[in-house]
Amino acid sequence: MERLVEIETFSADEETSEITLRPDAWGEYIGQEQIKKNLSVFIEASKKRDEALDHVLFYGPPGLGKTTLALIIATEMQANIKVTAAPMIEKSGDLAAILTNLEKGDILFIDEIHRLSPAVEEILYSSMEDFRIDIIIGSGPAAQTVKIDLPRFTLIGATTRAGMLSNPLRDRFGMSFRMNFYSAEELSKIITQASLKLEKDIIEEASYEIAKRSRGTPRIALRILRRVRDFADVADEKIIEHHRTKFALEELGINSFGFDEMDLKLLKLLASAKGRAMGLSTIAASLSEDEGTVEDVLEPYLLANGYLQRTAKGRKATRATYDVLNMNYVNEDGTLF
Ligand SMILES: Nc1ncnc2c1ncn2[C@@H]1O[C@H](COP(=O)(O)OP(=O)(O)OP(=O)(O)O)[C@@H](O)[C@H]1O
Ligand SMILES: [Mg+2]
Repeated sequence: MERLVEIETFSADEETSEITLRPDAWGEYIGQEQIKKNLSVFIEASKKRDEALDHVLFYGPPGLGKTTLALIIATEMQANIKVTAAPMIEKSGDLAAILTNLEKGDILFIDEIHRLSPAVEEILYSSMEDFRIDIIIGSGPAAQTVKIDLPRFTLIGATTRAGMLSNPLRDRFGMSFRMNFYSAEELSKIITQASLKLEKDIIEEASYEIAKRSRGTPRIALRILRRVRDFADVADEKIIEHHRTKFALEELGINSFGFDEMDLKLLKLLASAKGRAMGLSTIAASLSEDEGTVEDVLEPYLLANGYLQRTAKGRKATRATYDVLNMNYVNEDGTLF
């Protein structure tokens, strides 16, 4: 039987255009070595036992390859996959309809899984644990509970906001994987591989130049690659050269550290505290963001690269913060470093 990949929704238009660059096999999925290694073992084991894979959770900042991994798992398991996102599942009936339509071994991918409503989450618990759901039909004294058995399926959840998942939901995943930022080497490989797919060669220095400015994130790297390719095409160049790449990056206003506008706002804010720590709530309020987004989406890259420090009192700028902002470094007591 033909494998079914049912894509209900992709959050952004950009994803649909990216889809041609999305790796569809392990070989093309670069980096995240530990995750790949573990997953291959679990996939092989469940295939040997002819069982559905245990439920999987992927969490980490946007664009690091969570959805891509879910699709690769489906390919490896030779399973049908149904892709949806939590905001699409408004009522418990919506989830019940999806679940009762699954067949044995199918994969259900729920993106942004932290956004499920409590009522929907409730239904998910019993379906994940007991492969059964209780549906209440009717209301008042005449209401009846009907138990429906479900086939063994695999739920793959993805979230950028692991902190927002409820404990009962988190505990029901047999495996959970935190996605890491990619090194410049890995991103450079991803860029080279993608440009082959775009039928445009890129020289190594050029792919590194893009890699360095991509915030450790494949989605950003691929987006920049497309724009740089436009510059090369307009200049009638068959190969993406280093000088064209540098020119394009400059024209695009992409700074050499790959920070985006929000990163810079946060770094400037921290630097303005002149060496003092700033509380998460103050930061969130100043950036007009919620605390969770600052913590789960904005901070991880800056923390991982030493541009931000977490202390008991709050967040602090580091020496690197002042360096990238071209500012003088200030000590706790306000004196220059
Ligand atoms: N390891 C990788 N190797 C090659 N390409 C990758 C890899 N990871 C991601 N990509 C590319 O980056 C793009 C973004 O990845 P993906 O959509 O899977 O990210 P995501 O983690 O699901 O993001 P979001 O949190 O926004 O949903 C994909 O279209 C894919 O082409
Ligand atoms: Mg995704």
